[in-house]
Amino acid sequence: MTGQTKKHRLRSQDWFDDPERIDMAALYLERFMNFGLTPEELRSGKPIVGIAQSGSDINPCNRIHIDLARRVRDGIRDAGGIPLEFPVHPTFENCRRPTAALDRNLAYLGLVEILHGYPLDAVVLTTGCDKSTPMALMAAATVDIPAIVLSGGPMLDGWHDGKLVGSGTVIWQSRRKLAAGEIDEDEFISRAADSAPSAGHCNTMGTALTMNSLAEALGMSLPGCGAIPAAYRERGQMAYRTGRRIVEMVDEDLRPSQILTRAAIVNAIVTNSALGGSTNAQPHLVAIARHAGVEISPDDWQTHGYDVPLLADVQPAGRYLGERFHRAGGVPAVMWELMQAGVIAPDALTVTGRILGENLDGREARDRDVIRPYDQPLRERAGFMVLSGNLFDFAIMKTSVISDEFRRRFLSRPGQEGVFEGRAVVFDSAEEYHARINDPTLEIDEGTILVIRGAGPLGWPGSAEVVNMQPPDALLRQGITSLPTIGDGRQSGTSDSPSILNASPESAAGGNLGLLRTGDRICVDLNTRRCDALLSDEEFLRRGEEGTTPAVPESQTPWQALYRQTVGQLRDGAVIEDAVRFRQVVCTPPR
Ligand code: FES
Ligand code: MG
Repeated sequence: MTGQTKKHRLRSQDWFDDPERIDMAALYLERFMNFGLTPEELRSGKPIVGIAQSGSDINPCNRIHIDLARRVRDGIRDAGGIPLEFPVHPTFENCRRPTAALDRNLAYLGLVEILHGYPLDAVVLTTGCDKSTPMALMAAATVDIPAIVLSGGPMLDGWHDGKLVGSGTVIWQSRRKLAAGEIDEDEFISRAADSAPSAGHCNTMGTALTMNSLAEALGMSLPGCGAIPAAYRERGQMAYRTGRRIVEMVDEDLRPSQILTRAAIVNAIVTNSALGGSTNAQPHLVAIARHAGVEISPDDWQTHGYDVPLLADVQPAGRYLGERFHRAGGVPAVMWELMQAGVIAPDALTVTGRILGENLDGREARDRDVIRPYDQPLRERAGFMVLSGNLFDFAIMKTSVISDEFRRRFLSRPGQEGVFEGRAVVFDSAEEYHARINDPTLEIDEGTILVIRGAGPLGWPGSAEVVNMQPPDALLRQGITSLPTIGDGRQSGTSDSPSILNASPESAAGGNLGLLRTGDRICVDLNTRRCDALLSDEEFLRRGEEGTTPAVPESQTPWQALYRQTVGQLRDGAVIEDAVRFRQVVCTPPR
């Protein structure tokens, strides 16, 4: 079932073809004509399609879109539309300080205003680097003009000394080896460079590949779009087809509100588990759902996601990288498995105008080494575990990256499987962690749980990717490569750490993590999904009255201050809370 197919009046005609305001139409027309467009084009009822350009020199992960936009334009023109390309605020994950997460909501606001305030009948959302995908989908959900995602695609697979090296993941692995004295700094940089061999976004199943895969799982991009490497010829072909398709979507009046339904969101949660997707998918998908007006509960991750097996053998949960994943069949092949197993809804509508089940017809995996059958997974129950306790109401743990070593060391005590108790060592910031992790007076050993706070949306601000704290160098040299970690921040989607993270409420919002002290004992029970400090309610009360919660640093820019005034917690998507009431604002703005 798609939208209507008969020709309807386009919103762009209210700018260019308003018989009651020829003065305004002339004003709009003359300036678009000054780069060569003609009044015949602009007044003929052809759909005007925006290309939201996310690529630039300060967003290298998305830079391929500068080239791809030419093929998008060709597709739009060939299908009878008029392309108008415009820039969106960059969100370059690796480089933006203090964090690109601060800019997701800013870029969202900017894109909403562009889609609402300019004569656009539809939009192609160019996505890639982590936040560029959720921010685009959040804006498309708010405005609700026909919209389609075009991913830029991952980099080619990285190789170093005959071994695959994936972006991000190689950094976390190499910094452990550097600290243990196994490699030097030149070797570290050489490995990092080899992980990034071409244009494109991260080639691991980090946040970028996860979110582009989930855009596809949501039905918001053409089938197969999520994982085609940026450098492949198929990427340019996908750009052309995406351009053609968005014009048809205008004719069909097929909008995000018909696609971003509760069924689509749950499909994405399930698919994320099978992909071994990033922990950042949790706040991003919640944000998309909330802007789309879809009810989503923190428990949905446990109820719908946790029991799903890991099918994609892609780093950091597995071995391979994006290029091989694409050649194995990519997202459609994973979803084909999930559909055969009956764990996703095949009747969800997609941008093709067809339902998901029709799109997946015949898309079985081509390489079973990379994409496993549902009944022969890499791991059973590979989704996010949702935890709560007296330190926070909500946190998640990515169980697909629990290594055998971590399981043996911390989760396999006879009679107490899945339970670990340890002494907390608490850091108030990433700076303090880096300054003090090797301080022998902290007495960090195998019985320590590392805790970081002040890293949530208010504390950082934007929320920092710091919870995957590595142990002190002395422990690394003994072969102890990870300790249990807890925090109110996030961690990179490329990290292989099974941290307890995204804890909400954060310490800066009055969460009890702010009252924890080094030396307190913490018990984590994965059987009951509890994480508790072994402190009485009275002790929490007493510490609260003492007012010992760590201070929140000053905002350094106007947006940081505004962000802090408007943002919610990671559990709730860290959205601008007052923005979620604006939905389907597609109406023509006042002249
Ligand atoms: Fe941009 Fe990973 S840093 S995709
Ligand atoms: Mg990141």
